[in-house]
Amino acid sequence: MVYSNSPPILKNIEIEGYGRLGMPFKVFLNGYGTIGRRVAYALANDREIEFLGVGKYSVDDRVKEAKDQGFRIFVPEQKMDEFKDKGYDAAGSITDAIKASDLIIDAAKDGLGYENKLNYYLPFNKPAIFQGGEDRYGEHSVADMIHNSRVNYEQAYGKRYVIQGSCNVTGLGRIMQPLIERYGSEIIRFDATLIRRWADLEDKKEVKDSIEWDRDPHHQRDVADFIKSHELYVDVYKVPSRMMHLHQLYVRFKHEPPSRDSILDIFEREWGVALLSSAKGTADVRKKALELGFPFGDTCMVHIHTDVLKAHGDTLKITYSDDQTGIVAPENHMLMQAMLFSRSRREALERTERIFRLNERKRALASEFG
Ligand SMILES: NC(=O)c1ccc[n+]([C@@H]2O[C@H](COP(=O)([O-])OP(=O)(O)OC[C@H]3O[C@@H](n4cnc5c(N)ncnc54)[C@H](OP(=O)(O)O)[C@@H]3O)[C@@H](O)[C@H]2O)c1
Repeated sequence: MVYSNSPPILKNIEIEGYGRLGMPFKVFLNGYGTIGRRVAYALANDREIEFLGVGKYSVDDRVKEAKDQGFRIFVPEQKMDEFKDKGYDAAGSITDAIKASDLIIDAAKDGLGYENKLNYYLPFNKPAIFQGGEDRYGEHSVADMIHNSRVNYEQAYGKRYVIQGSCNVTGLGRIMQPLIERYGSEIIRFDATLIRRWADLEDKKEVKDSIEWDRDPHHQRDVADFIKSHELYVDVYKVPSRMMHLHQLYVRFKHEPPSRDSILDIFEREWGVALLSSAKGTADVRKKALELGFPFGDTCMVHIHTDVLKAHGDTLKITYSDDQTGIVAPENHMLMQAMLFSRSRREALERTERIFRLNERKRALASEFG
């Protein structure tokens, strides 16, 4: 798929709180790593906003990648010479970009978003979206809301700081919310075991031969931030794999769970949820996404593995894989639309779908693994 970085189309609307009649909103992406490069894809393909460029902190191969895509690079003031010496002229400093922005999407390494908020976003009075590695609670909290486009999209209207839920938290919301909407009064509780990949495919870090547990998974608290009607209990294990996460969600009902067909029928109609019956593991799905030429090899979805969807007594067990790298990119695009335009969820979804084409990816995966 080809990147488009065409000049944005001028809008003729004035948005409360920004009020720059006739001018497109300027969005800066601060951080161009695994998540940043995927969000850049959305911003470069969205002609409604002006994509200012990306913040880069190290001189490495990704600078060339960003330049080749036609993205402007902004770097810390003190590193301008270092970038120049290596042949990369920066369009300006990080501070220049932030001052010129209407919204920043921060895609920094875990915890650095908090520092960016203190050093840049608050002093320059700029709204920002943070990623799921930032804290929602405690002394390093960056925002009072975690966004999940399936659950609380509209609550981001008018917010200045919002965290986009992490990949696992996004997947949990995408599966739990439709069940709650349909069977809420019948559901007693949710329990989830998250089996997390050790590293992403493009990570240079070593994958350790071990299964590690998490003593205090943030996912439970994060989901509780936007799903308040039902409790979710989470255990998390990290395994030596680079190929997606796998979640086992146990849904306990007051009586017998609904039929398998009614569950499948619900998710067949859900955006960003694929139903697969013949994949044998997460690598099958990731490799197929790469083979099918999906941008970055991402499905941007969760995939319910219907061959292991089961009911026992009062409990329904749903096993689904979660595309850790891709799933949050369309979510950031949705959240940006809520914060900049207070647009209806339906319209935002249509626009996000035009860029990411999840329905097409869903059909392609279903025909391979259906
Ligand atoms: N990886 C996933 O699967 C995943 C999924 C969902 C959410 N997330 C969350 O997304 C965020 C980013 O994760 P990632 O996996 O993309 O990390 P990453 O690949 O390590 O990329 C982080 C980027 O942060 C940049 N950076 C360094 N200092 C910065 C600063 N002060 N401000 C802004 N950027 C700075 C680095 O730039 P240089 O390379 O130029 O030094 C690096 O490219 C984290 O909150 C993470 O929890 C990750």
